Amino acid sequence: MDARQMKIDAAAEALRHVENGMRLGIGTGSTAEEFVRLLAERVAEGLAVRGVPTSERTARLCLELGVPLNSLDELPELDLTIDGADEVDSRLRLIKGGGGALLREKIVAAASRRMIVIADESKVVETLGRFPLPIEVNPFGLSATRIAIERVATQLGLSGDIVQRAHNDAPFRTDGGHFILDASFGLIPDAEALANELNTIPGVVEHGLFINLASYAIIAGQAGVRTMPRADNQETDTR
Ligand code: 5RP
Repeated sequence: MDARQMKIDAAAEALRHVENGMRLGIGTGSTAEEFVRLLAERVAEGLAVRGVPTSERTARLCLELGVPLNSLDELPELDLTIDGADEVDSRLRLIKGGGGALLREKIVAAASRRMIVIADESKVVETLGRFPLPIEVNPFGLSATRIAIERVATQLGLSGDIVQRAHNDAPFRTDGGHFILDASFGLIPDAEALANELNTIPGVVEHGLFINLASYAIIAGQAGVRTMPRADNQETDTR
């Protein structure tokens, strides 16, 4: 089975959790886009949902395929968010932001009663950190923010390259106009500690560690699709 089919399988399973009338957060990335395509088919058949997209890219696809959209200000409380991830561990801690949408993704997930992560099995890891951690930063004071990130990483015993993301030979800009630094710290033994420290840096707008946000992960692999509940077995209600 190829990687795309696994993404479709995970998205199809997630679609089973979508009910008529739901207010849905809609993620960003190639897996989330498979979900949008399947959702659009159900909408065409009469399913009534309202979607809040986590990026301009997702918004464009939804509009193209006829998925009705609202802004998060119009629908500030959501029933369910479905989104992809760059890494998932057994406690459903995530690294996100490979597609550059982590700020809106985190805001939307936090406004949702439940978040379901959809991914293929290559995203499941024992310890987060193989994927460089995306950190969204304000362009003002970029060098000072980078130094502050290096400092907190060092305090936690982490080190590695911190590279500013580029696109077409120019700095990559998020939908909010910020930059992204991709931090290759290697394995992150204490994701909570790193998240907390990054949260104290004024120039850090948001980081890609998603902790206590996902309720389930739907993982597709060669052997089929499985659902991983959070190890603490708590369904999140982040509102
Ligand atoms: C975008 C994200 C994506 O969910 C993540 O990068 C996974 O993308 P894909 O499904 O294409 O592998 O966090 O900011």
